[in-house]
Amino acid sequence: MDAGGVSGGRQRRSPLFATENPRRLATAAYRLYAGTVFAGILLIWLYRATHLPPSGGVRRWAWLGMLAAELWFGFYWVLTLSVRWSPIYRRTFKDRLAQSYNEDQLPSVDIFVCTADPAAEPPMLVISTVLSVMAYDYLPEKLNIYLSDDAGSELTFYALCEASEFAKHWIPFCNKYKVEPRSPIAYFAGVTSPPDICGPKEWFAMKELYKDLTDRVNSVVTSGRIPEVLRSNIRGFSQWDEKITSSDHPSIVQILIDGNKQKAVDIDGNACPTLVYMAREKRPQEQHHFKAGSLNALIRVSSVISNSPIIMNVDCDMYSNNSESIRDALCFFLDVEQGQDIGFVQYPQNFENVVHNDIYGNPINVVNEVSIGVECVTMALDASIGERPYVDEFIVQNIRKIGLGWQGEKKMPVSWKEWPGHLLLAHMNTTPSGELRSVYYNPERKGFLGMASTSLGQILVQHKRWTEGFLQISLSRYSPFLLGCGKIKLGLQMGYSVCGFWALNSFPTLYYVTIPSLCFINGISLFPERTSHWFKPFAYVVVAAYSCSLAESLQCGDSAVEWWDAQRMWLIRRTTSYLLATIDMIRRLLGISESGFTLTVKVSDLQALERYKKGMMEFGSFSPMFVILTTVALLNLTCMVLGISRFLLQEGAGGFETLFLQAVLCVLIVAINLPVYEALFIRRDKGSLPTSVAHVSICFMLPLCVLSIWK
Ligand SMILES: *[C@@H]1O[C@H](CO)[C@@H](O)[C@H](O)[C@H]1NC(C)=O
Repeated sequence: MDAGGVSGGRQRRSPLFATENPRRLATAAYRLYAGTVFAGILLIWLYRATHLPPSGGVRRWAWLGMLAAELWFGFYWVLTLSVRWSPIYRRTFKDRLAQSYNEDQLPSVDIFVCTADPAAEPPMLVISTVLSVMAYDYLPEKLNIYLSDDAGSELTFYALCEASEFAKHWIPFCNKYKVEPRSPIAYFAGVTSPPDICGPKEWFAMKELYKDLTDRVNSVVTSGRIPEVLRSNIRGFSQWDEKITSSDHPSIVQILIDGNKQKAVDIDGNACPTLVYMAREKRPQEQHHFKAGSLNALIRVSSVISNSPIIMNVDCDMYSNNSESIRDALCFFLDVEQGQDIGFVQYPQNFENVVHNDIYGNPINVVNEVSIGVECVTMALDASIGERPYVDEFIVQNIRKIGLGWQGEKKMPVSWKEWPGHLLLAHMNTTPSGELRSVYYNPERKGFLGMASTSLGQILVQHKRWTEGFLQISLSRYSPFLLGCGKIKLGLQMGYSVCGFWALNSFPTLYYVTIPSLCFINGISLFPERTSHWFKPFAYVVVAAYSCSLAESLQCGDSAVEWWDAQRMWLIRRTTSYLLATIDMIRRLLGISESGFTLTVKVSDLQALERYKKGMMEFGSFSPMFVILTTVALLNLTCMVLGISRFLLQEGAGGFETLFLQAVLCVLIVAINLPVYEALFIRRDKGSLPTSVAHVSICFMLPLCVLSIWK
């Protein structure tokens, strides 16, 4: 690339993106609100510290536990402030990009698509994603697509071969008729008749071609083996032999379309993007470092083949919903003023398969509008100082500019620290100065759409994996707190820690949803009386925090029901996924066991899908996670019934004053767990809670209740 030419024109160029904070008043109001809540938290701490019960009793221990939990919640709440303190919005100006740069001045882009398991991620889904990125509105000579297949599956390879042929028809079709979205699955699912600009004959021919492709790929995938005819026709299959398995195979690299070759043209004679299949070497006895390992391998392979300065990474189930996303990202990287400092552009994760009022709180806009899965979130954000913590896997799509290579300088040597399943720390070392600057871009029309898990078990397992990885990084020497010290701003360090310490919410939350309720049946009071002055900070903090959270959700377009469902998921995740993640982490620190990596299975059976659409939670099998959540639900139900009847029978309403808050807490926990009782006592379908889960839960719960009543 001609660096001189680019900088020569720089002076007259206007910015390619704008960062705005249009809601100053709202931000000021938020800060005021946060100040008052913080004052409330301080008062709660003060109350706990000054009202310590005399030593020697159960109440003192329970009290100390409450103090510890509240200290943690308060601290964590302060961390979450970092991502909401000064929300900003970004806009890009693609028209200015087009004025400032000729097409051939734009940098080339390597696109990495990662897949790991042909059973969980059907090859047809994978190639639709590949096709959607091959058809980007960008010079094809400058696009290089790499599919990393961690399973080394010949089924996926076969599907990709088919896709490479189909692409030669699909890409010109997309360009000619401005097709959107460019994933054929998504397109043909949404558009059922020819649009005006396209002649019906051509449209139906394309549809037929796509249907043939689907039939061929699916029949081979269903049969599980490649027919001999194909095997001898396609050269690449010679790399597979009998001995290859998903966890034991040599490295396989196949260039299916070589964009540099003359004959790599589509049906209209235009160039095609380069397409590469890659399976890195895997041996059972060697650590393969999951996705971080694949990305490292992708970087090595791509540096030999195309060596583009811009790298984009998508998951195989996240298709591009906007053919201009690369241009959007370039507006950040090529901006004259700030582009130099920008290392990453992230898009939020959006889902296409979620229904209205999704029981799992999946569609929850507030998370994207505000921050990455920080549950108690606010309005749209890049973290505190216009940066956003980089959280791979959660925000799956990101576009990375490595070093400043595109300006014609030699590409920076990239040292990605290999880390099981996570990449957070890698980025901290990636840019030359060690400075990490990332931008978050959440356009109105979503750049990428993917599939959300629609079964509770999948979601919980996925979250366990995420939180465990984050915690592992936070407690390691690559912790953003340590590594980022002096390099990134305090606000960003805090932002990282919000995710980094997700898992640590588990114990305080579990404590809060069990001990006060157990003390409630026992008449042990853990909160101030309703008439006391100390009651006020508790009431204020809870009411203020939850009304703010609800208001934010509504403002971001979520419904109140979605908000309520999201609160339930918040509780369930903390007491199951996060708890097990923390326990596994502790075990690992003690050297007890190596934790496994469980891939989220994304294909649900049809009945389960129907139940999901009806808003039923999907349990179905026995899992320790379900045992925990059932135990919590049953325990609170029992405590509520016993506690309230005890008051009605023995003490009258008078004694209720001192236990008022505990009663409220217990009733709320029961209310939020209604779907769990339904799955236990009422539903009889395959997705309900198995009786074995109920039995084990009762075994845990009964002794606790009996002990509390007997003192
Ligand atoms: C995806 O793209 C289509 C245009 O093809 C657009 O109408 C739709 O709103 C986009 N989806 C989302 C969730 O933004």
